[in-house]
Amino acid sequence: MNKTITLWTRLLLTASVLLSAIGMASPAAAASGEETFKKKCGACHSIGGGKLTGPDLKGVTERRTEAWILQFVKSPQKMADSGDAAAKALLAEFGFPMPDQDVTDADIKAILAYIAGGGGGGGGGAAAPAAPAAPPSAADIELGAKLFQGLVRFEKSGPACNSCHHVKNDAVIGGGVLARELTTVFTRMGAPGTSAIIGQPPFPVMEAAYKGRDLSPAEVKALVAFLQDVAAKEAMQTPVDYGNNLLIGGTGLFLVLACLYGLIWRRRKQLPVNHAVFERQVKSQ
Ligand code: HEC
Ligand code: HEC
Repeated sequence: MNKTITLWTRLLLTASVLLSAIGMASPAAAASGEETFKKKCGACHSIGGGKLTGPDLKGVTERRTEAWILQFVKSPQKMADSGDAAAKALLAEFGFPMPDQDVTDADIKAILAYIAGGGGGGGGGAAAPAAPAAPPSAADIELGAKLFQGLVRFEKSGPACNSCHHVKNDAVIGGGVLARELTTVFTRMGAPGTSAIIGQPPFPVMEAAYKGRDLSPAEVKALVAFLQDVAAKEAMQTPVDYGNNLLIGGTGLFLVLACLYGLIWRRRKQLPVNHAVFERQVKSQ
């Protein structure tokens, strides 16, 4: 799936490069810096609007060299792993690595030009960093839990979250393992970060799943309420531990089967086909 997306992105990029070569180069590039930022970065970064899930990018070109940014954006984790001091400090401060961004050098340069121009103030999907989260309403939590599991359909029939994600919650039965476990995502990202990501997913796989099927603000609100509740209750969860039960159950079943087979075989040894022949032979000797 990812490969198909990358292929399409490549094709589209090639097409747009050709188009701009044909004539409308610079205005298109300027617009695309803003567009790319809003689409891919705005869920986590503001420009002068304060810290969201990631750092405020206002003035980032004064803090870092262009070469550093080009390398970082494409693979933040790799850069931290390679021992780069700035990348390690960022990771320590924000507690989780920015996901690798599928963007070209040209995209990043266009974004940097947009940032240097002051950007739009806030982030794309999260313009107003909200006040500390109020406790969510019970109705929203319940609706969110149902939406997450697909017990209630999304208005535009996007896929249920648990086809890819899992949370640790007594009320929720197992989920997918394709994507990250979401139990503590709210603790890490807060309401603005979480709702920005759900409303405008910056991850290719998730974005593709909801393309043309974006969630309504009410649905996003309910899901955020649910994730906030899940994070708050994390410590109280008693996830069912099948570990020992499986071992004990398995051993028990094995013993039962062993007895059964023993019984069956005992009869077989004496009775069937050969028995008559055996008797006759014994007699005739
Ligand atoms: C899912 C959230 C998320 C998305 C999407 C995202 N970032 Fe980030 N970004 C972060 C986090 C978190 C950090 C800091 C932690 C780290 O080092 O990875 C960061 C750090 C950065 C930094 C370093 C900032 C500094 O102060 O040195 C730059 C530059 C950056 N991001 C640019 C981008 C660009 C450009 C995009 C879009 C193409 C983008 N980011 C998309 C979360 C995100
Ligand atoms: C088609 C699969 C898919 C579906 C469906 C999906 N996601 Fe995602 N989601 C992803 C992927 C892939 C990521 C990227 C991070 C990762 O690798 O786990 C992600 C990331 C996230 C993150 C950020 C996690 C983090 O720790 O950085 C949140 C929050 C999230 N999804 C919420 C949701 C919610 C809520 C729904 C339901 C409306 C949903 N997702 C549906 C695939 C999916």
